[in-house]
Amino acid sequence: MPLDLSFERPPPLFAVHTATSSPGDEPRVPVEAPAPEHYVADLMSEPTDVTFSRATSDRVAAAWERYRDRIFRGQQQLSEWMVDSVDPKPGQTVLELAAGPGETGFLAAARLEPGGRLISTDVSDAMVAAARRGAEAAGLTNVEFRTMDAQAIDLRDASVDGILCRFGLMFVPERARAFAEMRRVLRRGGRLAYGVWGPPDRNPWLTHLVLAIVQHGHQLPGDPFAAGGPFSLAAPDDNRAMLDAAGFNSVELVEIDGAQRYDSVDEYWDVQTAISGPVAVLVDGLPAEECAAIKETLASMVEPFRTDAGGYELPTFALGVAAS
Ligand SMILES: C[S@@+](CC[C@H](N)C(=O)[O-])C[C@H]1O[C@@H](n2cnc3c(N)ncnc32)[C@H](O)[C@@H]1O
Repeated sequence: MPLDLSFERPPPLFAVHTATSSPGDEPRVPVEAPAPEHYVADLMSEPTDVTFSRATSDRVAAAWERYRDRIFRGQQQLSEWMVDSVDPKPGQTVLELAAGPGETGFLAAARLEPGGRLISTDVSDAMVAAARRGAEAAGLTNVEFRTMDAQAIDLRDASVDGILCRFGLMFVPERARAFAEMRRVLRRGGRLAYGVWGPPDRNPWLTHLVLAIVQHGHQLPGDPFAAGGPFSLAAPDDNRAMLDAAGFNSVELVEIDGAQRYDSVDEYWDVQTAISGPVAVLVDGLPAEECAAIKETLASMVEPFRTDAGGYELPTFALGVAAS
């Protein structure tokens, strides 16, 4: 049965605030302009290996597919803002990077008809396969699927009219390379729109689970604020600097408040430990009684977010960024 892509607006808990914007009619950098010198130097080396992130994503892709609807809807307003920013038109080509199961790009695909196409990509074969099945279920016929590292985009210069990337760029080890690659393949006047998580204190849906795990003496790999970590692009100025250095301009940045909703702590635990790669790996290796103890700690931590109906609403805070 085709997926319903006529999404309703999320409830009023969500709010979009335009934090900074610059007029869309600023001069845009021609695509054929030479890349800044330091990128030319950087790009001569091999991109940082993505074996670990690929393997982790392959491992959790089935859960992403199982929960595709709730994952998408949890940040649907960001996706809609991104697609509106790119403003896909019939006949155009839009690239989605780090697409996961693909829903954000699917919103654009419908707007590219007739004659246009979406190139849906991810570094993980299993995620790409999940996206392919999602498009088939939705009856979309103008989507091409490719496994691709955002650090090495396998497309010609100036070959796409728009680029989307929801919650992917934080996980790319060499982001400067990814931004330079996006600039290279985006045609003059085309728009990039992406989403990243804001700071941890505004994202208890993510931090509380991790804190509960840490409180029981377990450590997750990596620095959450360094490239590859979920908060590595949480600061607006870092995004502006990255875009500026890659030759993007007309930058717009919005803040999107939202919430993740769970019926119970069990549901929160089941969903998040299944879809978050490093957490899934760690939790898989723990005995059941240890998981139960962590869950108990988690339950007391999320008590302030309990709703009258008995479920939980944990705040989320994302940044939407667009540039040309
Ligand atoms: C948090 S998920 C987001 C998925 C989807 N965009 C969404 O918003 O639901 C991050 C995705 O980034 C992908 N990813 C990680 N590193 C990548 C890279 N270097 N190039 C392309 N995709 C990457 C992962 O495989 C994963 O599917």
